[in-house]
Amino acid sequence: MTRDEALTLLKKYNESEALINHGKAVEAVMKAFAKHYGEDEEYWGNVGLLHDLDYEKWPEQHCVKTEELLKEENVDDAFIRAICSHGWKICTDIEPKLQMEKVLYTIDELCGLINATALMRPTKMDGMTVKSLKKKFKASSFAAGVNREVIQEGAKLMNMDLPKIMEMSIKAMEEVASDIGL
Ligand SMILES: [Fe+2]
Ligand SMILES: [Fe+2]
Repeated sequence: MTRDEALTLLKKYNESEALINHGKAVEAVMKAFAKHYGEDEEYWGNVGLLHDLDYEKWPEQHCVKTEELLKEENVDDAFIRAICSHGWKICTDIEPKLQMEKVLYTIDELCGLINATALMRPTKMDGMTVKSLKKKFKASSFAAGVNREVIQEGAKLMNMDLPKIMEMSIKAMEEVASDIGL
């Protein structure tokens, strides 16, 4: 699947600009980590772009409906498994095992926190620091829907320090800021 095909598929099932931008943000961060680990950037990026494919139309079947939608597209099983595993212990029992899955699990919620943080700043993504993001991470009443435990558990699975993950994620989102409404 090419990036264009993935984006077309995302737009087939999603009209919400916020959801499309979230997919693009997760895509950008997944690509940055793929590069870091020497993996396939487009493949990891597409997993990120499509990870919430079913969320707008089938929120009650999140991560489950996606499997059906992607099978129709003849997407390979590893791709589907990776997407389903981001809902581990929340909407699926598929544990993130591959590094790609662990990264997705961690940075999905983190992208939500970065997005919420950017929206509070006059310059949005521009100049955001790890220090300011850490503050927002600790302030549990800020963007309360962001599951900090998932991010922390994910960082452990990834075997990478959370500040480093934050730094790479901020940088990746900064690079696509104008394309994700930030
Ligand atoms: Fe999700
Ligand atoms: Fe998500």
